[in-house]
Amino acid sequence: MTDIFSMTGDIDPVAAAHPQPLMKMMRDAAPIIDMGPEAMVLVGGDEDIRFVLGHPEIFSSGIDAVNIGQIRPLIPLQIDPPRHKNFRKLLDPIFAPKQIALLEPATRALVRELLVGLPEKNGCNFHTEMAERLPTIVFLQLLGLPVSRAAEFIELKNGILRPPTHSIEARNAATAATGQKIYAVLQEVIDERAVEPKEDFISMFLAAEVDGQRLTQEDVLDIGYLFFLAGLDTVTASLDCMIAFLAEHPEHRQQIVDDPSLIPHAVEELLRWESPVQGVVRITTQETEVSGCPIAANRVVSVMLGSANTDERTWDGADEIRFDREANKHIAFGGGVHRCLGSHLARMELRVAMEEWHAAIPNYSLVEGNVLLYSQGLRAIDNLELVW
Ligand code: HEM
Repeated sequence: MTDIFSMTGDIDPVAAAHPQPLMKMMRDAAPIIDMGPEAMVLVGGDEDIRFVLGHPEIFSSGIDAVNIGQIRPLIPLQIDPPRHKNFRKLLDPIFAPKQIALLEPATRALVRELLVGLPEKNGCNFHTEMAERLPTIVFLQLLGLPVSRAAEFIELKNGILRPPTHSIEARNAATAATGQKIYAVLQEVIDERAVEPKEDFISMFLAAEVDGQRLTQEDVLDIGYLFFLAGLDTVTASLDCMIAFLAEHPEHRQQIVDDPSLIPHAVEELLRWESPVQGVVRITTQETEVSGCPIAANRVVSVMLGSANTDERTWDGADEIRFDREANKHIAFGGGVHRCLGSHLARMELRVAMEEWHAAIPNYSLVEGNVLLYSQGLRAIDNLELVW
């Protein structure tokens, strides 16, 4: 078992801050790297990764791949085809670009509210003031949970994704206990909405129908649990990575300050370069091979999205960060049937946050001497202290 979207276990802070050279070394060494019978097989080439993600019948994303305190498979992430399609048919329209566009004014108002008082200060911790709070509040509003509980939700999310201990037993126990709390909160809302529906996602899920079939309450619980973990920290990590990059690269920051219409392109290019979700995991259902290298059945495969996104065999100028890249077909949101359901929501949150932040605080830099500590797996930065 491994953490959600995680890759290789502990890596040092320098490699965590700049994983691209390490990825290149791995790609250059071999198409796959077998870390040993009890550990993972790493796949790093763009073409190989697209093959793995395109063959869920060989590379399953079933429940054994990831432990985030769940007691049943996460929906739709841990459901393989053909059943997976039924859930996406039902969920895709709720997350379609048209629906997400309706949320933009409220998201913009929220970012402005979070910014109140900040420009007058001379700095802040971007992670706690903006990156963590924005997606948490958006999520609470969408699911119809009270925003006053934001701090509690951040703590629950961190309890799963950033467990305080490195002992595997203690970690698993803490994760399971926090998982139970998340199920309990979600069940509370589901019970309320089943009796009295509101204008929120939980009510929509309970009412949604595909081919005459409705989701059960248990399904809604398993979807809510995944959203809680997949929708919060990913946006937090992406915002952290983007702002850290721009703080360290004033010439790139100036480009978007001078021309904010570049921001959507900057978001895509920084998603590619930073790949906040560095890897996803699969389990082989049978003996197979990748680029001629054999992989036994039942092995955990780490699919290194960050490596694919910087693979020089695919990308022209892979190591150059260009906000004017024409076609940017990165796989920071994954690929194949499990490609991120929340990508339109995430993009909207990221774009709006970048627009509003740079309109209010165009010049900022890192606190001198502060070594940024990137978290494992998802590349959030707890100590992203900025000055302006
Ligand atoms: C920048 C932010 C985000 C990034 C980088 C990201 C990345 C990803 C990746 C890489 C996957 C594929 C996982 C796999 O194949 O194993 C995924 C799946 C998923 N994401 Fe996101 N995500 C983000 C935001 C969100 C948000 C805001 C939501 C909101 C609900 C969300 C919901 C999901 C769901 C439900 C899946 C599973 C889809 C399926 O299995 O069909 N994500 N995401």
